[in-house]
Amino acid sequence: MVLGPSNTAGKVEGAFIFIVVCCVVLLAIVTVCMVAFLVKYKRERHPYPEHVKENVLLEVAWTVIPTILVIFMFYFGWVDFKYIRNPPQDALTVNVTARQWSWLFEYDKGKQSDVLNVPMGRPIKLLMTSADVLHCLFIPAYRIKEDCVPGLQTHLWFTANELGEYDIFCTEYCGVGHSHMRSKVVVMTPADFEKWASTPAGTTVSDMGPKILQAKGCLGCHTTGGTARVGPTLKGLFGRKEVVVVAGQEKSITVDEAFIREHIMNPRSATVKGYPPVMPQIPMSDEELKTIVSYVETLK
Ligand code: CUA
Repeated sequence: MVLGPSNTAGKVEGAFIFIVVCCVVLLAIVTVCMVAFLVKYKRERHPYPEHVKENVLLEVAWTVIPTILVIFMFYFGWVDFKYIRNPPQDALTVNVTARQWSWLFEYDKGKQSDVLNVPMGRPIKLLMTSADVLHCLFIPAYRIKEDCVPGLQTHLWFTANELGEYDIFCTEYCGVGHSHMRSKVVVMTPADFEKWASTPAGTTVSDMGPKILQAKGCLGCHTTGGTARVGPTLKGLFGRKEVVVVAGQEKSITVDEAFIREHIMNPRSATVKGYPPVMPQIPMSDEELKTIVSYVETLK
């Protein structure tokens, strides 16, 4: 039994190692025979071809042994596949929404996050979907991945064995921001997780602003630090002069509250020149919109 950072990692690793060992042993046998026969039957020793008679024992052996090996490979694969596909009843459910180009993880009581916080030692069930196109959630260290499909619910589950942070990648090409669509699993002690899960959301703009931007996926494309990504940075956005493209026509504007509101509610109405017109429409309450506008105003 191979252990790993999660229960699933050990299972996949076990089947993988078994298959690799079989392949390496077979490769070694075939290679040794090939080289030996090259030497044994070279032309100087055997100038004329000979009639070779079959060897029944050998033929039965090389049919039966590989068949048994393949049945074992199937058996390990099947048993582990069944285990990995069926989450236990007591698993902690996290709803996952993939969208261009960020991840949203939602817990009971409305707690939201853009990283997957989980307690160590407890089965976690991810119920996944997509808000727009195909995405795929991949946790390499845990050896698990599953597609996120719009209009469909898919699932994954795992139990983390070790504290730490593990990468999450999107492995379904989903547009210009695909390579930025990263997140992580943060494995905490059960006590730390409880503390995190029960911390109420803040109330001030500087508390709530970054949280909403993160939860709504804005930070997948816009930074707050001054670097342009898929979209322009939010730093210094308020009052900035930009050239925007409206219905194919270029137009100079100064970014103000009205522009930011209109742009979030109706993203394709205008696109800042030099950036692709890919911003999705993300549902947002008036309260959230107000907080974002006030927060962006503070990013000088
Ligand atoms: Cu989402 Cu690639």
